[in-house]
Amino acid sequence: MAERDQAVQRIPEILRDTGWTVVLVGEEQSGKLAQVTAGLRRGPDPSGSGKLITSGFSYWGLESTVAWAHACNDLYYPVMRESIGSFSRRLRAVADRLPAGPLHYVSLGPGTGQKDQALLRYLDRQGRTGYYIPVDVSAEMLRLGQREALEHLHVPPADVLPVQLDFSLPANLDRLSTLVRRVVGDEPVVYSLLGNTLANFDSDTQLLTLLAEKLLRPQDRFLLEVASTAGQDEQAARAAAQEYENSPRFREFVTSALMQYTDLQIDLNSLTCEGLVEDDRALLVRVVYRNRTGGTLELTLPDRSTVPFPDQDTIRLYLSRKYTREGLEKMLVDARVTKAGETHEVGHTAFDRPAFGLALLLLQGGEAAPGPVTGPNPFRD
Ligand SMILES: C[S@@+](CC[C@H](N)C(=O)[O-])C[C@H]1O[C@@H](n2cnc3c(N)ncnc32)[C@H](O)[C@@H]1O
Repeated sequence: MAERDQAVQRIPEILRDTGWTVVLVGEEQSGKLAQVTAGLRRGPDPSGSGKLITSGFSYWGLESTVAWAHACNDLYYPVMRESIGSFSRRLRAVADRLPAGPLHYVSLGPGTGQKDQALLRYLDRQGRTGYYIPVDVSAEMLRLGQREALEHLHVPPADVLPVQLDFSLPANLDRLSTLVRRVVGDEPVVYSLLGNTLANFDSDTQLLTLLAEKLLRPQDRFLLEVASTAGQDEQAARAAAQEYENSPRFREFVTSALMQYTDLQIDLNSLTCEGLVEDDRALLVRVVYRNRTGGTLELTLPDRSTVPFPDQDTIRLYLSRKYTREGLEKMLVDARVTKAGETHEVGHTAFDRPAFGLALLLLQGGEAAPGPVTGPNPFRD
């Protein structure tokens, strides 16, 4: 037997000591650093469409992971806290539509892990838990999320397989799909993309299409959670932006990537959250850092190269959306997925504030996916 195989065989034994976790790293991390540097090197654009930190990099690394965990608990940032707090209840509304029997769970972007715990707990109570495969671009987030997700549950360590990988790249999804199929064979999988993560991507529909196309087989399901809006005017867009603006912990989180990747002296007053109406499909929120010093600054990037940051130039730090019902329906049609279950919470509304809510959708693929990938399961055989 090859030495590498022998080492892999010993992993379940090593994992009996709870201090260890195994992570499969699916891509070169140095390549990721080049990607983040390229985003920060883009030309000046005072309108917020130039320099940027794309989704994934906002959460990458220890500082951002810790800052995200704090933001999720911020009383002034109710969006995430409420979405985590109400998840178990909302899950129950769609869970009877999940495939029967043992179910494997692949969580795309588990974050702090509480929602994964709710789903795993639901399966555990019925004795249906299969493999748990959390997938995240951030190794630190994986470790934190995994600990929270498995707390007080009886999932054997050998049935947990964290994967560090950027799931927005088609080649990575091909590799992930092959890995998952090797591990589970023909048994059904439920994938999840929760916490409005889809809304962080410029091409959200394209990403959903790709995830469905590359991952979903007819027997699999996909749990998608997104933020929703009933209103679609300027006032609603401003209110959506304010949700982020009001939270000191969110501001710390969103600037933590800037602190990691540049030598900028961060002034939190230079941060703005802009709310825009995106056609009839969504409200769009852009969190932007603007140079307000009156002069050109020089940014040093991770590769030690420098780039000018002129007065009024911007770095887009975060993107989010709240979808209209019509926008969401159209996205599902475009991504060629159909609903197997859904629950919508409209959220609280006040006389001067629009209603923002959360939609939890259980999706299935529209077309037959390629057949199972044969080959040994590296964690069982
Ligand atoms: C908004 S948080 C959602 C966390 C959790 N699902 C929840 O609902 O509470 C986004 C999560 O996705 C991960 N993520 C974002 N972009 C990613 C990418 N391109 N590839 C892999 N993980 C990504 C982040 O690290 C983070 O864990």
